[in-house]
Parts: sequence; structure tokens; C-alpha cells
Amino acid sequence: MCGIVGGVSNKPIRNYLIEGLKTIEYRGYDSAGIAVFNGKKAEIYKVRGRVEDLDNKLEKRIDGLVGIGHTRWATHGEPSVINAHPHASKSGLFSIVHNGVIENFRAVKNALMEKGYSFLSETDTEVIANVIEENYRHTGDVYKAISKMMSDVKGSYALAILFSKEPDIIYFAKNRSPLLIGRGQNGNFLASDYLPMLKVADQFVTISDYQYGSISLDDIKMFGRNDHPLPIVFHETELKPEALDLNGYPHYMLKEIEEADSCVKLLVDNYYDGKSFLFDKEMMRQIKEADNIVFLACGTSYHACLLGSRFFRKAGKISDVYIASEWAYNPYTSGKKTVYIFMSQSGETADLIHCLSVAKKMDGTIITITNTQGSTLSRSADHTLLLYAGIEVAVASTKAYVAQVSALALLAGALNDDASVIADLEAVIAAQQSVIDNHDKIKNLASFVSGKNDVYFLGRGLDYDLALECSLKLKEITYIHSEAFPGGELKHGPIALIEKDTPVIGFISDAKTELAMRSNLHEVEARGARVIVVSSITLAHPEDDFVVPYAPKYLSSLVKVLFGQYLAYYVALKRGLNIDKPRNLAKSVTVE
Ligand code: F6R
Repeated sequence: MCGIVGGVSNKPIRNYLIEGLKTIEYRGYDSAGIAVFNGKKAEIYKVRGRVEDLDNKLEKRIDGLVGIGHTRWATHGEPSVINAHPHASKSGLFSIVHNGVIENFRAVKNALMEKGYSFLSETDTEVIANVIEENYRHTGDVYKAISKMMSDVKGSYALAILFSKEPDIIYFAKNRSPLLIGRGQNGNFLASDYLPMLKVADQFVTISDYQYGSISLDDIKMFGRNDHPLPIVFHETELKPEALDLNGYPHYMLKEIEEADSCVKLLVDNYYDGKSFLFDKEMMRQIKEADNIVFLACGTSYHACLLGSRFFRKAGKISDVYIASEWAYNPYTSGKKTVYIFMSQSGETADLIHCLSVAKKMDGTIITITNTQGSTLSRSADHTLLLYAGIEVAVASTKAYVAQVSALALLAGALNDDASVIADLEAVIAAQQSVIDNHDKIKNLASFVSGKNDVYFLGRGLDYDLALECSLKLKEITYIHSEAFPGGELKHGPIALIEKDTPVIGFISDAKTELAMRSNLHEVEARGARVIVVSSITLAHPEDDFVVPYAPKYLSSLVKVLFGQYLAYYVALKRGLNIDKPRNLAKSVTVE
């Protein structure tokens, strides 16, 4: 969480910092700030709130050519101007922005206080600024001060650092939080990901853990462990700045919901050439030979894996799914030859990075499935599968879920060289298009739901996996309390929650469980619930509230999830909420 930017340019840096921060506000948005060299001094400007508030508060013209910026998701200390970054060291020699969490910050802070340092904020970042200052006082060299800081502190950090005696340089350091350098015609830049730099840079350098260095107008210096200088290896990115255009949509979430069908199509095009699957042969061999597949993921990605493991079991593989933050502390595999599948839209999720270090010790093959090329999880895996979903800007994941489930269906199909999955996904694309074209009915249902305090989702089997995802979507962007239950579990307790007009949304996709599911819905209806039935056309009753066109049963969630996504979207719209940036959340969860 938290996003950082920095740049040394031959043009005023203000707009790069502000516009850049806006593109990574999804990483956290409770406060924002920049520091810009103005003559010899780094001027710091901060606000509690959004980057837009900072933009409005700043003078339009700030001439400085060198600066750093930050958008925050609070970890240490409440969202406030004092806790907002940049933070200056005691004497003002260093000003820094930080993404990450310093685990031993209390001990380090106490040690500094004994040496006479005092602190304005509650943050771990101010501690780092002062560690660097203290080290500089002893070494007289900023690189040495940073290198020593990297052994003094434990935890995750991506840092951009201004040093007031060198107003044409930005120093940086990185461990376990992402950081990239971008080189463009007008200077060198830094950021937590590519997005801020797409308009100003065309060549990029990925900074790895325990690396540090500096950028100036025409130079980049990098050092690794043992302080050895490193070669600068540039690469390009396929991401385009146009990907950030809203194309007439009022919100990214709506745009991204309606990109579902094109996401499925792109995946099919990338992983099937019309005759055979295009997955890496060595990876396929390892999956085939594995005696257990362990899926690890969080949130929406976990829900996608619940379905994926069903596909893998159907294809003959023993497979288990775990929430990453749980598995990390209680790792388990029943196999001797395990393939671990790490599913992560961002590729930067801290809980998964923790699992990665555990899985590496347990032996086995690591596959990362991600939407983010070059991400930490991708670079550390034996194999990476890209989701090709394009940038997902809205904090609530929509099209990435669709891409995740589709990718797992393709992979399971490839296991037995069963190309019927291609026709099945084509049916999904047609059905999704039809839901997109006919989603007005969901708007009407959203009006009813928007006035409620509690909403329940029910499903059996794969519909339960879907119910979990729809419930998460609703709660995260509408702030309405919502839970999902397997249809059969209801009378074992949760039915006590049902009151008059409580919305209960039931999914029906499977002939095997249809009757049982309808009975469960009658049971809650008899207790006053307002039941909303979302069924597949092959099982539909005339009175069902929303009927989706044909898609094979095992892929039906790829169609019905659009119902859940639209419902959440229109409820949040009705409640006047910030749909793309819901409260308390951040898109890339880089702290545990
Ligand atoms: C919900 C959502 C989150 C993420 C979760 C994992 O809409 O986006 O639940 O799915 O934080 O993130 P990734 O997939 O980046 O590892």
C-alpha cells in the first residue's frame, strides 16, 4: 500500500508528481504530499485527503525540477497532515517518502531518542529519515548512510530520499515493496509502478530487494548487497497511457465490468492458437507430474481459486485452496511433489510474498498467475502466467476475477489437452455480452438493496464460491453488511438473521442442487426475506429475478458474477459513494 513517485527533470516536476500520484492513488488515499527542491531547500506540502485536494492546495506554479511524492494508506498513525509523507529528518537534511512497514521501528526509534532525536509524527517513516541522518553524521556519505540504514531496519520499504546538500539528486532504496526507475527524454523518474511514468519514460529498470542508488538528470547509479555497483538493465513495457482513459464511462469499475468479455477473448487468444494450447511445456509437465496442487491467494483472487481447484479436480488433480495469510503461518501440502499456484492480480500482495518464502523452503514448483508483468511474485516464481486483463484501476476487482477464473479453466483444459474449454469460453463471452446489454434490470434491484443494512448471498457448490465473491464486492464498495452461505447451512444458524424484507440473493446454476436451493430460498421467504433469484436459462422459472443466457455449468460464475458486480456498482452509486476508491481499502495490499 502507499504509492511513491519521484523525478529529476529539465521541466518543473510539480505536474509529474501530482498527475503521477493520481494514477497510483489506488494504492492508498488517506493523505498525500510532495517535496520539491526550491533552490537549495526541499519544500514539503501535505494534506489529509486525496491527491486532488493536494493539487488544489498547491500553487499551480512551482518551479523546482526535482521532487518526490506520496499517497498514503495509514499503517503507523492515523491519517493526518502530520503523519502524511514526506517526512524530514531532525535537521531537515533528508526528506523521504516510504511505502512499506518497518517491523523494528520501536526499538530503532527508542535508540534514536536516547541519542537526542525527537519525532513529530507517529510514523515509522520519520524513524527511517532519522536513521539515515544519524548514519550520515557518522559516515559523511549518503550511499553509506543508506546502506547502513538497510541493515539497521527490518521490514519492507521502497524509499525516495532528498538530501538537501545535493538538490539535483534523488536517492532510493528498496526491500519487499515495489520500486521502478523510468528513463525518458526529459529526465529520470521513480515510482511504485509503471503507471505514473508512462507519459514521461519509455525505458524502465526494476529495482530488486536490497538494492539502493540514485537518479539525477542524466545518470542512474545502483548498488546491490555488499555495496557493489550494478549494471543498469533497461526494459520496455507494453502498458500504454491510454489504458487509463475512462472512455466516456463515469467510473473505472463500470468500464472494467464491461471489459469482461474482451478479457476472456484475450486470454483465449494468448493461450490457444486454434490447434493447441500455448502454455510453457515444462510447466505443464510439472503440473501433470505433481501429486498435489496448492492454490494460495487472498480476497477476490482466493474466490477465483476456489473455482479453479474445482476445475483441476475435475481434470484429475488433487488440489487444495488456502487463504494466503492463513497458510503462511500453518503451511501444509499433502503431496510429495507439489505445484503451488500463487494467484494475484497485483503480484505484490504481502501475504503471498510471505507464502512464497515458506513454499520455497518446502520444495516444489511455484507458478504465479498475475496481471502484473515484472511484479515481485512473478519474478520469484518458476513460471508466470499473465492474465492480460489490462490495467484494473478501480480498487474493487472485477475483470481480473473474470480473467483469473478463465485462465484456470484454460490451464485445467490444457492438462488433458481438452480443447472443449475454448468453445465453452466462447459461450461465456456471448452470455457476458448479453448480460452487459441487459443489465438495466439489475439497476432496479439495486434501488431496493441500497436501502438495506444486511444482504445475504446463497449458493451451493460452485454457486457458493460465486456467492462469496458477490458478497465481498457488495460489502467493499457499498459498506452494507453482507455474508455468503452455502444454501444448506442456513438452517444451522444464519436463518436467525432473516427479518422482514432482508434481501437474500440465491444463485442457481446446477440441476443437481436446484431443488434443494429453491427449498432453501422458500425457507427464508417464509420468514419474510425478499428473495432475489439469479438462475441459468436452462433452470429458470418464470418468476426468477434475473436469468442469464447459456454458459456451461462449470463456467457459469463467469457470467453470473457480472450480476454481483453490477449490483454492487449500482447500490454504491445510489448511496453516493466513491465507487473506485472505497474507504479503508487499497488495491495493492503490500503489508501483512
Ligand atoms: C477485492 C479485491 C481484493 C484482492 C486481494 C488480493 O475486490 O480486489 O480482495 O483480490 O487484496 O489482491 P491480489 O489479487 O492483488 O493479490
